[in-house]
Amino acid sequence: MGEVVSTYLSDDIAVVRVDKPPVNAMDQSVRAGLWQAFSEARTNPAVKAIVLACAGRTFIAGADIKEFDTGIGEPGYHEVFRLIEDSPMPVIAAIHGTALGAGTEVALACHYRVADEKASLGLPELSLGIIPGAGGTQRMPRVIPFEAAAEMMLSGRPMNAAQAKELGLVDRVVKGDVAEGAIAYAKELVAAGAGPRKTRERPVIGAEKVAETLKAKRAQAAKTMRNRMSPIKLLEALQAAAEKPFDEGLEVETAVSISLQQATESRALRHLFFAEREVRRIPGLSSSVTPRPIGRIGIIGAGTMGGGIAMAFANAGLPVTIIDANQEALDRGRATIRKNYERSVSRGSLTAEKMDARMNLITLALDYDAVSTADLIIEAVFENMDLKKKIFAKLDQIAKPGAILSTNTSTLDIDAIAAVTKRPQDVVGLHFFSPANVMRLLEIVQTKKTADDVLVTALEIAKKLRKVGVVAQVCYGFIGNRMMDPYAREAEHCVLEGATPQDVDSALEDFGMAMGILAVFDMAGIDVGHLTRVARGNAFHNDPTFYRPSAMLTERGWLGQKTGRGYYRYENGKRVVDQEVIALLHAEGVRLGVPQRKPSAEEIRERCLYALINEGARVLEEGVAFRASDIDVVYTAGYGFPRYLGGPMFYADTVGLKQIYDRIVEFGRSLDSQYWQPAPLLEKLAKAGSTFGQWQAEQSAD
Ligand SMILES: NC(=O)c1ccc[n+]([C@@H]2O[C@H](COP(=O)([O-])OP(=O)(O)OC[C@H]3O[C@@H](n4cnc5c(N)ncnc54)[C@H](O)[C@@H]3O)[C@@H](O)[C@H]2O)c1
Repeated sequence: MGEVVSTYLSDDIAVVRVDKPPVNAMDQSVRAGLWQAFSEARTNPAVKAIVLACAGRTFIAGADIKEFDTGIGEPGYHEVFRLIEDSPMPVIAAIHGTALGAGTEVALACHYRVADEKASLGLPELSLGIIPGAGGTQRMPRVIPFEAAAEMMLSGRPMNAAQAKELGLVDRVVKGDVAEGAIAYAKELVAAGAGPRKTRERPVIGAEKVAETLKAKRAQAAKTMRNRMSPIKLLEALQAAAEKPFDEGLEVETAVSISLQQATESRALRHLFFAEREVRRIPGLSSSVTPRPIGRIGIIGAGTMGGGIAMAFANAGLPVTIIDANQEALDRGRATIRKNYERSVSRGSLTAEKMDARMNLITLALDYDAVSTADLIIEAVFENMDLKKKIFAKLDQIAKPGAILSTNTSTLDIDAIAAVTKRPQDVVGLHFFSPANVMRLLEIVQTKKTADDVLVTALEIAKKLRKVGVVAQVCYGFIGNRMMDPYAREAEHCVLEGATPQDVDSALEDFGMAMGILAVFDMAGIDVGHLTRVARGNAFHNDPTFYRPSAMLTERGWLGQKTGRGYYRYENGKRVVDQEVIALLHAEGVRLGVPQRKPSAEEIRERCLYALINEGARVLEEGVAFRASDIDVVYTAGYGFPRYLGGPMFYADTVGLKQIYDRIVEFGRSLDSQYWQPAPLLEKLAKAGSTFGQWQAEQSAD
């Protein structure tokens, strides 16, 4: 491998070139290389200007985030960027691909910026719970208007070259080789006698609107990034840029950065960053296993899930054939898909041409032969074991050899479904979440017989669909729905004890859940879960309070949004409190002899979340999930658990397992309930003063 940073001369222009595959991430070696290259170029009398460019497919696309934990090695960011900014001759950044985080910050320390027409620039630090800490908060509002700078950092959205040019972040947009374009620009600057243009000496742009902007952005952050500290701290650093001299502003930025890096929010977000990469590592699976080719997709069932899954594949450019039992179902399915695409077109997120192209990829048919050439068939019919078995028997007859047969079942035993075929090794669960074209999570359910290359193909499919695939083993509800069962059980019981649906949902939403669970049931259809529990034979049939509210509402036909009332009433699309339902459910609690005690918000939260975590511990020790961090990915990507808390198992570690264990034991005593048995793994770790994180590390070391 060559040097990480090298310099060559193009006439009197020195080109400093970073070459650190795959994405030129800024780490100690890059900083040290830049330090040396700029020190030399600055003092070379033959050099009239310096271009900073990158090899490979992108400019510096971020910092090496491992350095957060190991500490920033010398030389530090500020020293290197100051050296660049203080160069006595013009320094021009040549940007191609994506400049992200520290990449954008080093470009800001350069005096001028030239970008390839396809390049983009972003400061996405907030997604890791930190702020641009290498001068970005201080330099950006000196280059583009304060409000645009604040929006760029709050949203984390990268800007394309044209937008960047319009705002003044980029001086010139070029086609072709960006280093050549930057050299030409540098020569023009030299010829015109233009000297260095130090960003730190420029005034903040739009300073007169700072107070107004900060007020609006604080309100926006409080609403859209509830409970988070990093947006508030980011605005503090930006305020310092507007109010203080550059060096003092930089000190504020540094202090804020350090405190955020050590805070739980950033640790949680970094944990998820690594956890989402770790999910692809399957214990015991050889790296030589290669995926099967996936070209054509078949889907059985044109309902809510079948349609959404078809869209997910069409969006990835793959042809899909959907089968349903009758023409009406096909017509309905096609109309729903079209309506969903049309909504995207009217919102401006999809062009009409792309919509047509995607619709053209989706074929609907009645005859199963239409999927006989598919490489992957996904069954998404009603949640009914007999029906699914019948369909798999048929697929076994018509599918080509080597085709992967999968089911989207939420709860059923996939080993039993696979057993009706002569090729159980080709069967795997692909559990999508609704709406399947939007939700990031894909639970991949491995049966006892799923072949290794089928599992690897399933992970590839997740990647192709830009989803995060997490492998689970077969059990009732797999990872996600199994843990949801006790969580929602407590929510429903609280209602029988005298809490209103809104008390329950607000307690969970204030904690950070995207939506309270009872509002979720209203959205998904209360009957869906109820019928699944009935089909399961009601595992707690000796307890008449078990999910009684859902059963009562289903009996009355109050199924949630689709019928206009459920736990709430729906008026003109708005959710409103339904006093009749509240009275009805409380009366039922009294009738069943449930002590009336109206649990506090804190108790509701603890009961729901600790029941969830306790089941998570069982899922772990049974091996249903490979890792605690896999559970965290499932819950943050598929169940609305707040990312800034890292997922339920990471959150449990931050609360302390001993505290959770003690509360569970206490609930077992005080609530007169059969459900509060601490999971053996939770008990063991709590008593040892350990954490799920440590347990996971020990497991992978074995
Ligand atoms: N809705 C969700 O939120 C969700 C989420 C994850 C998984 N699932 C699972 O996905 C599956 C489908 O759920 P859904 O919500 O899309 O149901 P749905 O009722 O919207 O759609 C089911 C479709 O299957 C069709 N169908 C029935 N019998 C058929 C047959 N013999 N051949 C071909 N098609 C047939 C129906 O006509 C209907 O169009 C279920 O197993 C469910 O548990 C649902």
